Amino acid sequence: MTSTPRPLRKAVFPVAGLGTRFLPATKAVPKEMLTVVDKPVIQYAVEEAREAGIEQFIFVTGRGKHVIADHFDHAYELESQLKGSGKISELNSLLESLPSTGSVSFTRQQAPLGLGHAVWCGRHFIGDEPFAVVLPDDLMIGKPGALKQMVEVYNETGGMLVAVEERPRAETKRYGVVDPGVTRGNTTEIKGIVEKPDPEKAPSTLCVIGRYILPAEIFAILDKKERGAGGEIQLTDALAKLVGKVPFHAVKTECRRFDCGDKVGFLHANLAVGLDRPDIAPHLKKILAALPKD
Ligand code: G1P
Repeated sequence: MTSTPRPLRKAVFPVAGLGTRFLPATKAVPKEMLTVVDKPVIQYAVEEAREAGIEQFIFVTGRGKHVIADHFDHAYELESQLKGSGKISELNSLLESLPSTGSVSFTRQQAPLGLGHAVWCGRHFIGDEPFAVVLPDDLMIGKPGALKQMVEVYNETGGMLVAVEERPRAETKRYGVVDPGVTRGNTTEIKGIVEKPDPEKAPSTLCVIGRYILPAEIFAILDKKERGAGGEIQLTDALAKLVGKVPFHAVKTECRRFDCGDKVGFLHANLAVGLDRPDIAPHLKKILAALPKD
């Protein structure tokens, strides 16, 4: 790459999913608001994006997701109560996590037509710029964050990037899977990509996890609304159509990934984040050590 690629300033967060796997918890509470220790899953995603230089946060929501908008806004009554009762560090941490005025936008995915469709719903906010897609279910813990590590690669390669990790072959049916080319360091060229292949047909075991850096050209493909795996408009299928047209790379980040769309993954995330926290780890370790061994 000779010239520096256009800076990445915008990110789309698809958050329209119903979260049926977490019922009854998600009956009235969006799954993105479930907490890992003391922070909603969606806030981890937004903080990761902010660390990567994202300035515009676009949420593609659905019915019953309004508390996500409330979460990223001032809560004047609460703030004044915290101030009045001298809880200044709690107040400051709320204020620090607040995105700046005008940097958050919401649009609705009016029908559950797939991830490609959800991303397409954000097209007017993106315009003709490169943008990130962050799937909050994939909680990425590490320093620097996953998206920041990808931006470092993007600044060299430009084009499209996806985060990947090796998964057991039996699991390819749950992921987008890449057909890998040459690997340099943490970055692998992508020669092809397929959504949720059967294990025996998967081109590799390098599976896409929920971080993407995409060019705006993707919208012209998503405009066609072609259905793919599961009858849905798949983001992966649109990426496949750009293979050979723009540089396309997979990045293995140094982050730990937790699948918070899955109950066990979600519990694992809570344990891992709790064990990283000096205020919680000693207590949690005692509890874990006292658990009966089966
Ligand atoms: C989506 C994508 C898939 C990707 C996965 C990562 O699938 O379609 O390509 O591997 O996210 O979590 P979903 O989990 O929405 O079925």
